[in-house]
Amino acid sequence: MRTKRFAAIALGAALAVTLAACGGEGASGGDGNESTSSSSAAQSSGEQAAGDATAAGDKTVGVAMPTETSERWIADGNAVKSQLEKLGYKVDLQYANDDIPTQSQQIDQMITQGVSLLIIASIDGTALSSQLDAAAAKKIPVIAYDRLINGNPNVDFYVTFDNYKVGVQQATALLVGLGFLNADGSDASNPPSDPVNIEVFAGSPDDNNAGFFFNGAMDTLKPYLDDGRIVVPSGQTDFDTVATLRWSQEAAQTRMENLLTSTYSGGTKLQGVLSPFDGISRGIITALQGAGFGPKLTDGLPVVTGQDAEIASVTLINQDVQQSTIFKDTRKLAAQAVSAAQDFLAGKAPEPNDTTTYNNGVKVVPSFLLESDIVYKDDIKSLLVDSGYYTAEQVEKGQ
Ligand code: BGC
Repeated sequence: MRTKRFAAIALGAALAVTLAACGGEGASGGDGNESTSSSSAAQSSGEQAAGDATAAGDKTVGVAMPTETSERWIADGNAVKSQLEKLGYKVDLQYANDDIPTQSQQIDQMITQGVSLLIIASIDGTALSSQLDAAAAKKIPVIAYDRLINGNPNVDFYVTFDNYKVGVQQATALLVGLGFLNADGSDASNPPSDPVNIEVFAGSPDDNNAGFFFNGAMDTLKPYLDDGRIVVPSGQTDFDTVATLRWSQEAAQTRMENLLTSTYSGGTKLQGVLSPFDGISRGIITALQGAGFGPKLTDGLPVVTGQDAEIASVTLINQDVQQSTIFKDTRKLAAQAVSAAQDFLAGKAPEPNDTTTYNNGVKVVPSFLLESDIVYKDDIKSLLVDSGYYTAEQVEKGQ
């Protein structure tokens, strides 16, 4: 199956150089040498890194990550830390166990201890205003990492993926799995002739990204829902009803179990589930298998989408259990955050590639958006193994 790659938002030459300078750390934290680095680029950026290390001096960068329960944030934290350290910065990396007061305290402490810059992946995008005000008072630049911080003017830059397109990709993968589209996004020549039943899940309502994913997905599904080619038998399609607080796997499993009891116990078919995150997908799959579906796609397990290419889900995809995920290369996101940090610390404003999309309620935050890829079973090798993100053995073992 061919990978559907959406139009790339060009990674600038600056990012390629940064990636080359930083080497690359796979999700496992291993040193996967980036395919983007030519030896001459690596050599010249190596020289540049040595110069930067001197300039970095004693500066400490505070990195606030939401949780270690999802492996993507561990990969992000490791990648940001190692890339900053290679440039000579000290790094104070903290995880907040998905607890809002813990994250606020961690950031307060970073500010008190005199960090030169903050990189923050927030838990609740609206809960950090006093921290951002304190940072601004001390002229500490703030980079929002993957998740936008809302309701405060003191967010200086935002690095993320094109979150609306991630949602489009999730719905596209679902439509491919249900037989409406070919893997290249074109219409299938022999689509289902009867209405197809699905259920939909969204992410955490306090995470700004969750709405973007959901809107991208639902806009893509809309023509099929409007003309009845796809039906949501529970009737649950509004964001607040289908949202999953803190992206919880357990909450998703419980909601799926409840849906199976309330809507499907009388023999109504269920063919697909839109899931915005691999942890949620695994909760949904556990509920489905517990109710007797599957255990594999080939045995009638509904098509379940995902996001983040977490190793446990990649293994399930390889085993024909989960249908797809969206790969967001945390090494590239980390490199972009580090590149923006270097600019700020050198007194320059980083170059955004989007200055219209991300309004945080107070201002449009200059952003740099990266591209993502749909991963079906046939793409695991080319996208995840060949790029050094995972080893073939990890894909085999699921860890
Ligand atoms: C990220 C997703 C992730 C989700 C749950 C979102 O903010 O953009 O990649 O799946 O959080 O951790």
